Amino acid sequence: MIELSGVSARYGAVPAIADVTITVGKGEAVGLLGANGAGKSSTLRVISGLLRPTSGSVKLEAEDISSLPPHKVAALGIAHVPEGRRVFPEMTVEENLEIGAYVPAAKVDRRRTMELVYNIFPRLADRRMQLAGTMSGGEQQMLAVGRGLMLKPRLLMLDEPSLGLAPVMCDVLFEKIREIHAMGTSILLVEQNVSRALTLVQRAYVLESGRVIMHGESKELATDKRVQAAYLGL
Ligand SMILES: Nc1ncnc2c1ncn2[C@@H]1O[C@H](COP(=O)(O)OP(=O)(O)OP(=O)(O)O)[C@@H](O)[C@H]1O
Ligand SMILES: [Mg+2]
Repeated sequence: MIELSGVSARYGAVPAIADVTITVGKGEAVGLLGANGAGKSSTLRVISGLLRPTSGSVKLEAEDISSLPPHKVAALGIAHVPEGRRVFPEMTVEENLEIGAYVPAAKVDRRRTMELVYNIFPRLADRRMQLAGTMSGGEQQMLAVGRGLMLKPRLLMLDEPSLGLAPVMCDVLFEKIREIHAMGTSILLVEQNVSRALTLVQRAYVLESGRVIMHGESKELATDKRVQAAYLGL
């Protein structure tokens, strides 16, 4: 469904990613793993149109989307839940969700989609009038994911959704992501919690210094000596 071929990108003089080739199939859940600064967030930013590739191509079902602005990419059904939640603290839960449905195709269905989001995250339904900034970290993360879902995405990209969450909240969130995937949404998941990520995704890519250094089925990666030493503390 989404295909990056030989993509490179930089921030001014700073290289972010180099020659990255990855795919996410329809209905697939794929992981993007790697240490700090490896280029995981930059890869998502390239896909969502926030960072322009200097070479290579990004294709959504054979259509080249590499030069589209972020709102056009979103309109095609690619939702990006960025690192660090980024909910609007002075707005209510409901208002934050409304904003997620900002593209025309999502806007017409937003009431129905919101009910779906509330079904997945009952905690958000209980707090629909609460200001987002007053919610706990885990609740804000759920809201960020919920806002992504308001786009009715074909592909949901999640950047370190479990970062900073207590283990119990982590469990809940991963269960929700599993549910969203089971409903047919393709997932591209960036996680530093590698062992947990590998239980959710079918395949994963490992980035190092902006390059893909390894990719494979989760089962293979979980038993790979290099992965175990570098990311699983084994
Ligand atoms: N806005 C920016 N300006 C300049 N350089 C940046 C910017 N954002 C990222 N970089 C650089 O690009 C490289 C890749 O960063 P990126 O944020 O993609 O890594 P990451 O894998 O998401 O790391 P983390 O796990 O810490 O979130 C790093 O060397 C980083 O310093
Ligand atoms: Mg990052």
